[in-house]
Amino acid sequence: MREFPLTLSRFIVQNQASHQGATEEFSSLLTQIGLVGKLIAQDLRRAGLIDIMGTTGGSNVQGETVKKLDVIANDAFVKVFQHSGYVCALASEEMEKPISLPGNWPQGKYMLLFDPLDGSSNTDNNMPLGAIFSVLKYDRADRLPTDEELVRRGTEQVAAGYLLYGSSTMLVYTVGQGVHGFTLEPGLGEYLLSHTLITIPEKGKVYAANEGNYHKWPAGTKKYFDFLKVSDKATGRPYSARYSGCLVADVHRLLIGGGIYLYPGETDKPDGKLRLLYEANPLAFVVEQAGGKASTGTSRIMEVEAKKLHQRVPLIIGSRQDVETAEAFIQGRA
Ligand code: AHG
Ligand code: MN
Ligand code: MN
Repeated sequence: MREFPLTLSRFIVQNQASHQGATEEFSSLLTQIGLVGKLIAQDLRRAGLIDIMGTTGGSNVQGETVKKLDVIANDAFVKVFQHSGYVCALASEEMEKPISLPGNWPQGKYMLLFDPLDGSSNTDNNMPLGAIFSVLKYDRADRLPTDEELVRRGTEQVAAGYLLYGSSTMLVYTVGQGVHGFTLEPGLGEYLLSHTLITIPEKGKVYAANEGNYHKWPAGTKKYFDFLKVSDKATGRPYSARYSGCLVADVHRLLIGGGIYLYPGETDKPDGKLRLLYEANPLAFVVEQAGGKASTGTSRIMEVEAKKLHQRVPLIIGSRQDVETAEAFIQGRA
């Protein structure tokens, strides 16, 4: 008897009990994330043939050049969720302020924060891209959330995950009960369960970082990267460098095979580049649920006090042992 493929929605319904009070809305919310993935994946498969490459000519609240695909992906999230009734607020890397969804529509019980397109430097060269999402619960029904109510500590997330536009399109998520991966079956237009309870190896042999920034790093960070390159069979060094320019792709690689990704703080930019609320926190939730660690170099990412929507944070994430070794060097203990 052929094994019946487990679709995303069937999986959620079957695991409803363990999805900590996940309701119909939650299952539908995830399905809508999957719809965004299908829409963007479809465009990406034909990127060289349709006008979606290049920049818009503008820059965003991050002060970064905006790619056409950043806008296309952001629009897809907003249009899919604006009149869904599942969320009451949306916040995006590409939007200065959150969108509180129209009062004249059923007020959803979730707040969605997202990086609609991660790895934007890869849009024109057929390299991997992703999207990252973080889900917070909003328990009031008498009013919409204020902008400040979206700025929460990572431990308050009820769900998080990412879409990976790689050789296949994947949706990977956690609701605090482990990490599951689904692969889009284009012929069916369904995400099918392909990775059950993903567990990250305790230690890896691969590191991902933009070493072009080496000269900007503090001494302890430099010492860690020097350490990775010293030959020592007993500890599996030197490590191999694997850096794609897309955080989602690099984190997915280490989730499956072990290793570490670092976008450290710099001497004159101690908070580094990545954003806490819609890059570091959601990926930290996923990696911790897979048995790994996510640190600023000195503290747990998910306990960083969130103060601003587009707050930046240094990110050291991956296999537990590797992150702890990196922390020791960064803190001057090694
Ligand atoms: P985004 O495209 O959403 O701005 O994210 C890019 C991030 C991350 O995906 C990647 O690892 C890193 O920035 C690349 O930064 P550098 O180009 O500075 O290495
Ligand atoms: Mn990003
Ligand atoms: Mn982005």
